[in-house]
Amino acid sequence: MSKLDLIKTDYGPCNINCVFCRLHKSPPPSRSSKQEILSQIRACKDAGVEHIRITSGEPTLDPNFLDYIRFAKELKITTVLVETNGIKLAEDEFIEKIAKLGQVTFLINTPSHKKEIYEKITQTPGSFENHKKSLENLAKHNFKFIANIALINLNYKFEDVKGLIEFLKETGLEVNHITLRPLRVNLKGSGEDIYLAEYAALGREIGKIIKYCKNQNILVQGMPAFSIPLCACQGFEKFFAEDPKDKWEQMNQFFFKLNICKKCKIEKYCPGVLKFYNKKFRPTPYTEIPETLKV
Ligand SMILES: C[S@@+](CC[C@H](N)C(=O)[O-])C[C@H]1O[C@@H](n2cnc3c(N)ncnc32)[C@H](O)[C@@H]1O
Ligand code: SF4
Repeated sequence: MSKLDLIKTDYGPCNINCVFCRLHKSPPPSRSSKQEILSQIRACKDAGVEHIRITSGEPTLDPNFLDYIRFAKELKITTVLVETNGIKLAEDEFIEKIAKLGQVTFLINTPSHKKEIYEKITQTPGSFENHKKSLENLAKHNFKFIANIALINLNYKFEDVKGLIEFLKETGLEVNHITLRPLRVNLKGSGEDIYLAEYAALGREIGKIIKYCKNQNILVQGMPAFSIPLCACQGFEKFFAEDPKDKWEQMNQFFFKLNICKKCKIEKYCPGVLKFYNKKFRPTPYTEIPETLKV
């Protein structure tokens, strides 16, 4: 089995405070003991899982973080992916300890290459220097790297993401994989609506980003269908229709379908429009279905 299984480490206060963060407003999840997390990793191995993703609030802050990586490596789990803001990786001693344990793939929260925007997003003055150092450290130790970009109205434009990719390359990182995550608002306590980008513009910019990345041999993954309707991703509707449907079906209560959705070819793959979005941008710009999608 080649499944990516999620391991959530201990949940504590974060070392930055992203404006979009959906965790701030969530009820605190129950904490797992070190033994429970090690048992979860063991259970993955026993079930034949080859890829695990370690995440949390901020997993690198868990005092047992290195033990989890060590254990997963001892079990020879093929891919150990850590989803992190990376701030702690700026500490040479810390990243050297990880490097000694073997290859880890880091999915790094990289919202912007501009100090001002980065610190506006993280609401943490001085955090950009740490961020930059952590990227350089990742490059220095040849860790595998994926850029994780939460798209909000401060960083969603093509030029923003292109500039970000160039900046990441300048730090010495090999950039061959990015993930795009448009802001999810009001889903189980998510980010603030003031950071929501308008769907049509967001879809257009995502289209340009995908084209650019294709030319640069950069794999793009994403989950726009969690937050923007597929008709907003014109030209890339099918790409995003690959999102696992069962995931957004659990969130149906937060979405609604417009009357015109009945005439759309990919209606069954699309979650529809976020209720919250409609409230903010009403009247919704979605009054017409693109010709290519008409039934
Ligand atoms: C919740 S954080 C946890 C791991 C780690 N602290 C980090 O920042 O990567 C994981 C990722 O979720 C994404 N995220 C958080 N809140 C979000 C929201 N409201 N909408 C879209 N993506 C969000 C960000 O891309 C973030 O990197
Ligand atoms: S670094 Fe991660 S957990 Fe921390 S505030 Fe940002 S998104 Fe949330």
